[in-house]
Amino acid sequence: MAILVTGGLGYIGSHTVVELINNNFEVIIVDDLSNSEKFILHNIEEITGKRPIFYPFDLKRKELLNQVFDAHDIEGCINFAAFKAVGESQEKPIDYYENNLFSLINILQEFKTRKISNFIFSSSCTVYGQADKMPIDENTPLKMPESVYGKTKQMGEEILKDFAQSYKSKICLLRYFNPIGAHPSALLGELPIGVPNNLVPYVMQTAAGIREKLSVWGNDYPTEDGTAIRDYIYVVDLAKAHVAALKSLMNKETEETVIDVYNLGTGKGSSVLEVVQAFESANEVAVPYQICNRREGDITIAYANADKAERELNWKSATSLEESLKTVWEWQKYLESRKN
Ligand code: NAD
Ligand code: WQD
Repeated sequence: MAILVTGGLGYIGSHTVVELINNNFEVIIVDDLSNSEKFILHNIEEITGKRPIFYPFDLKRKELLNQVFDAHDIEGCINFAAFKAVGESQEKPIDYYENNLFSLINILQEFKTRKISNFIFSSSCTVYGQADKMPIDENTPLKMPESVYGKTKQMGEEILKDFAQSYKSKICLLRYFNPIGAHPSALLGELPIGVPNNLVPYVMQTAAGIREKLSVWGNDYPTEDGTAIRDYIYVVDLAKAHVAALKSLMNKETEETVIDVYNLGTGKGSSVLEVVQAFESANEVAVPYQICNRREGDITIAYANADKAERELNWKSATSLEESLKTVWEWQKYLESRKN
């Protein structure tokens, strides 16, 4: 029996593959390397001592996916594979809808035909938009996200709910807040392909001198220091939540529909300037920055109430912002060393 991990060589996927192997799951990865690199497979093996089975193809290729399901006894899927750049999704909306939704539907077709259950979906706090109340729990009303990327997440959730209801299947929607950090071995982390959009990769590259200055998008928000607030969750903690969610889903021996939804965050909000300061003090390195205008589409504040995950999955975030940011710096040093 095996777990299919799509996008398993990507940032969150690779960390989750390690945790799955550590928990004795057999892992099959499908990843087309559109936003990842093959050396990550080798590094997973170096960390765990096991090399997962890896298929390098695009999930939109139904016939290849069908062969993977024929070849293995798959009992569940964690579906990380998606395009995730918010700005790019506005420029290439159809590519985003096609990639993120067709690949999801292709897997669900296999699940339907073969009567497989246990599906975990990478969703995002973006489905809440700017919530009226903090912290954000799972009952907070959803708002259709502004970005095409965000819409693919909300639509993905709807597709899965319909799937679960029609085929009495078990699904779990994990709504991540802002994942950061790298593996303690420094062998896995977020691969900065091009100019990073997200805060922490940009901070990392600024500290390393690859970027001259961080642009802080707005200091006129109604927050203590005027910069926007997010909930930064350590990626290994996040990876462990997937194992907990998978085990919980698999333990539910039911013929009825199961739709589990969990917010995954730390429960604590940090401002942009707090992240910059925490990075500087954790790593004793300077991060030059300038204050700029707000970035279009940004919200003021979002942080999670993750009590449900603690109650039902016995999971909670364990790693501080500073500890996570230390791992980011070690990862940057590793990336530098690979160039030499
Ligand atoms: P990532 O880009 O590092 O990983 C995604 C992986 O999927 C990549 O390795 C890519 O090559 C692969 N992939 C993409 N489309 C594919 C396809 N059609 N066929 C096969 N492989 C494909 O992204 P990540 O940060 O690890 O995010 C994983 C998931 O979590 C995504 O669904 C993302 O939308 C979601 N998510 C991410 C964040 C975040 O800030 N990183 C936050 C919330 C939700
Ligand atoms: C965090 C804060 C920026 C870069 C995005 C997606 C969301 C989810 C997580 C996947 C904001 C500020 C950033 C910079 C800055 N992804 N910032 N200078 O915007 O919360 O969410 O990633 O689902 O869908 O929209 O994350 O890391 O881009 O920004 O000042 O160079 O840092 O304005 O306040 P965000 P982020």
